[in-house]
Amino acid sequence: MPSSGKKYRIAVIPGDGTGPEVVREGLKVLEAVSKETGFKYDKVMYDFGGERYKRTGEVLPDSALEEMKSMDAIYLGAVGHPDVKPGILENGLLLKIRFSLEQYINLRPVKLYPGVWTPLKDKGPDDIDFVVVRENNEGLYVGEGEFIKKGTKDEIALQVSRNTRRGIERCVKFAFEYTKERNKKKKLTLCGKTNVLTYAWDLWERTFYEVAKKYKDIKTDYAHVDACCMWMVKNPDWFDVIVTDNMFGDIITDLGAMIQGGMGIACGGNLNPEGVSMFEPIGGSAPKYTGKNVINPLAAICALSMLLDEIGEGKASKMVEDSVMKVTTKLKSLAAGRMGYSTSEVGDLVVKNL
Ligand code: IPM
Ligand code: MN
Repeated sequence: MPSSGKKYRIAVIPGDGTGPEVVREGLKVLEAVSKETGFKYDKVMYDFGGERYKRTGEVLPDSALEEMKSMDAIYLGAVGHPDVKPGILENGLLLKIRFSLEQYINLRPVKLYPGVWTPLKDKGPDDIDFVVVRENNEGLYVGEGEFIKKGTKDEIALQVSRNTRRGIERCVKFAFEYTKERNKKKKLTLCGKTNVLTYAWDLWERTFYEVAKKYKDIKTDYAHVDACCMWMVKNPDWFDVIVTDNMFGDIITDLGAMIQGGMGIACGGNLNPEGVSMFEPIGGSAPKYTGKNVINPLAAICALSMLLDEIGEGKASKMVEDSVMKVTTKLKSLAAGRMGYSTSEVGDLVVKNL
């Protein structure tokens, strides 16, 4: 596929902790691959995150959110600052973007690259290659609930999981389409909890099997979330694509990240297939490694590869992923400080192997 020769506008939010270091390497790779394949881009840098919040009290102004709606994609480093109360940045920045831009899919590939150590004994790259499609706008993440009799010994806390037919349907449809396009095992597993959460998962299950009727060539399967965790460890090769809700998706994708070699490599895309999507390494801000040039930038570079694919630069995307697969065979470990290379050297290696 030749490059489109197009010019893109990419919002960049390096964020907190090691975010700026890994994004710097991602941008280095972006620069190199754009030259190789011939597309152009402008970066629009935003300094949102803990430092700015501490300075100005501002997390994400509406004006910036509006600007982002006109971009081709958003590239995010990490959010989370040791001096900022947990929840402020997560809600005010990350979840705000996911919700406001209707990024209703969180796409998380779980793929073991060559040479990468997995804690699963006797499993290799042929066994660990699946994708989780996590609903990204609903469920327990809507922030609905209440305290009843707060502060008393009879206190009750309610946390609502909101699941709409429309929200489930667009997510499930995306998952079927994705499974079809991916064209591997052609199997889509619904991961839920129909035996206990009888309202939410009843609706999910009905929607899933109704949409399935239009995809006769896709095999369907169901696993309760607890069993799903078990199979991800015992028989990861059973999976092709998993679709699940926001909370279960959050949990199983951390397990997924571990079996694919850890936070040094795991990335995700927050997709609005009809709008603006955001790509991020999923490892967080890793405060204790900040500024040391020891963190692994491959997750951020893999997020860049996903970004390129989404904006239509499939060739560039593949070049980046192929290069990452060469580089993983050269690193001693994917863990921060134990790679045998510094953060910037790993970025250079990816550029060299493009
Ligand atoms: C993730 C993260 C976020 C989530 C946090 C930081 C709010 O854990 O992207 O998985 O729970 O979705
Ligand atoms: Mn998470």
